[in-house]
Order: sequence, then structure tokens, then C-alpha cells
Amino acid sequence: MSVNTVLYNINPEEINQDEIIEIAEIVKKGGLVAVPTETVYGLGADATNPLAAKKIYAAKGRPSDNPLIVHISDIDMLEQVVSGDVTKAKILGKHFWPGPLTIILKKGEKIPYATTGGLDTVAVRLPDREVTRRIIREAKLPLAAPSANISGKPSPTCGKHVMEDFLGRIDAVVDDGATNIGVESTIVDLTGDIPAILRRGYIGQTEIEGVLKTQVIDTFGTSGDSKNHPKAPGTKYKHYSPKATLIIVEAGQDKVAEKINGIVASEKEALKKVGVITCDERKNQYRADKVYSLGSHNNGKDIIKNLYSVLRKTDEDKMDVVFSESFSETEYYYILEDRLYRAGGGRVIREDEI
Ligand code: TXA
Ligand code: MG
Repeated sequence: MSVNTVLYNINPEEINQDEIIEIAEIVKKGGLVAVPTETVYGLGADATNPLAAKKIYAAKGRPSDNPLIVHISDIDMLEQVVSGDVTKAKILGKHFWPGPLTIILKKGEKIPYATTGGLDTVAVRLPDREVTRRIIREAKLPLAAPSANISGKPSPTCGKHVMEDFLGRIDAVVDDGATNIGVESTIVDLTGDIPAILRRGYIGQTEIEGVLKTQVIDTFGTSGDSKNHPKAPGTKYKHYSPKATLIIVEAGQDKVAEKINGIVASEKEALKKVGVITCDERKNQYRADKVYSLGSHNNGKDIIKNLYSVLRKTDEDKMDVVFSESFSETEYYYILEDRLYRAGGGRVIREDEI
């Protein structure tokens, strides 16, 4: 069934209060509204309404055991959505919020199990986008919002990506331009004995350790410690994937172009459309149907910011096979090691295998 998706084009410098009221009304009525954040766009709905949460799962095609992140507008709202000790969360919140950090705490009574995927814990985040905070404030409701992409696809970093996935399927899209970070928030679990990072993001382990003044575990690459730190349920699913077969090629900076060109040449014989993901410094060294640059490899911020839009571009260009450099030299490699490699579904070619 198709619905009329209203598009709100917002100028962040001049937010119109009448529009905020209209959008908040949709949320209060249990509708679905995609909203911007500094990381990726979220598919929002009233986090206290189980029917609204169910609509999010249905629209995304998301497994119902994969919990949603609850967004608040101000740190005072934290206690409305969680229960138990919030001392550490407030220390983190005061330092990093508004910002790309999600904190797992015991869930409060107002948050239904439909929102938390059946868990007794809830993920909370205070995003750094004025328009979204104003919608939450106006609705006086926390906003459950997973990334606004069809389950499995790369997360959306602009309104156009959201429209590609949800036009005619949700009530509204609030577009205030491209996101500035481009990968999802860091998730830190404060419910165990030792704080644990369940998903890597822009805010790193040492920064969190510095603020909490305690050791923090990074669960990346582990199977999780089921007692204290069950993995974020979402990390077990296929993610961020373009339609093409994406293969990461690990080779030194001086050899990688030659190595990838060699493999591309052999793929071409099978008449496939082949793309390469690289950086500005090496983009002229490749021979492929399309060469995509994520930016300068000296600017890790750009590399992570452009990742998802480039993955979506390879879909648009109908690539069959895409080879990507590993970017192991960039500052935010620890994030790419998760997102880029997961997008590749574990397909990696190492230098000594070529
Ligand atoms: O930057 C972000 O975090 C974006 C924007 C929209 O805020 N949101 C986002 O949501 O990435 P989503 O739903 O795509 O990813 C949420 C992740 C999933 O891996 C989920 O399993 C995990 O958070 N998660 C949510 N609640 C959890 C909980 N109570 N315990 C453990 N993991 C949880
Ligand atoms: Mg997601």
C-alpha cells in the first residue's frame, strides 16, 4: 500500500516552527518520519508506542529481535526512558552529547519491548541536529530511530538515499542536507561490570576511557561475552551491502593499484561491469568501468563520510563486481574494518594471494 510521503526541505539556519509542529503531530499519531542526524538519517517514530515501533520494523524489513535506538532531545530526558543508575551515562552524556554516542542502559517502564527487541535494556542517543531535537521536544516523546535504510543496505547519508528506499512507504522525510559524519554512532554498553563498545564509531575507545577514567572493552571481532556483554543484536546481520559483489583487496599502498588492475583485467573477460573504490591520490592509476574515490587518504573523516554514498553509487551504476582498497593507512581504519569489511560480506583478497 502506498502512502503520500511528505518531503520537508529544512534550512537549518531558519527552521520553521509551523513545520516542526506538523512533523511532531505525525509522530504523536504513531506515524513514520525520517529525520537527519549527524551520523546517518534515522527512520523515526514514537518510542513509547509499540504499534509505531512495529511499523518501523515492517517498513525496514528488519528482524524484530534487532532493537531500535531511542533518541532524546535533551539530557534531562534520559530518565524518562531508562531506569537504574545513570551516573556514568550522565558523565558520558555531558561530555559527548549532542553527538555520535549511543549508551545502553536498563530500560525504563515507558519504553515497550517492541522498541527494544524484547530486551530489558535500551539504547539511548542525543543526536546533534537541531531540527530533529526540536521535533522530539515539540512532540514531548522520545524518538525510536534505526538508520533509515531497507534492512541490509548501506545507511543513508542524505535525504535522497532515504527517498530511494522509502518513498510511498512512510509519512514524511525531513531533509536538512547531508550528514556530517556519515557512519553510525559508537555504541557503549554500561549495563555490565566493565563498559563495552558494541559498535565502533567516530568516538573511539580511548576517548571514552579518558572521560570515564576506567577501562573500556571493545567487543569488535569477538563473539561477545554472553554474561556481561551480549553483542548488539544488529551486528549479527548482513549489513551495509551494495548490490555488487564487493571484494576488499589488502595490499601495500605502492602495490595496490597494480594488484587490483590485474584482477580487474581478468574479470573484464567475463564481460562484467567492474568498479574500484580508492582515494584521490590513486584514482588515476586504475583501469575499470568506474573508479570511485572516498577522498584523500590523509583525511580519514572524508573517507568514512563518503563510504555509504559511494556504495549506493555503485548500485546506481549497476556494477557487478567492485574491488575496494582496504584504507588501512587512514585515521578511521578501525571503523572501516567494521563497516567496509562487513559490506564486503567477508570477501577479502590478501596481497600474498594475488
Ligand atoms: O548513528 C546511529 O546510531 C543511527 C542514527 C539514526 O542515530 N542509528 C542506527 O540505528 O544506527 P540502527 O538501528 O541501524 O542500529 C542500532 C544498533 C543495532 O546494531 C542494534 O542491535 C543495537 O544498536 N542496539 C539497539 N538497542 C540495543 C540494546 N538494548 N542492546 C544492544 N544493542 C542494541
Ligand atoms: Mg542500521
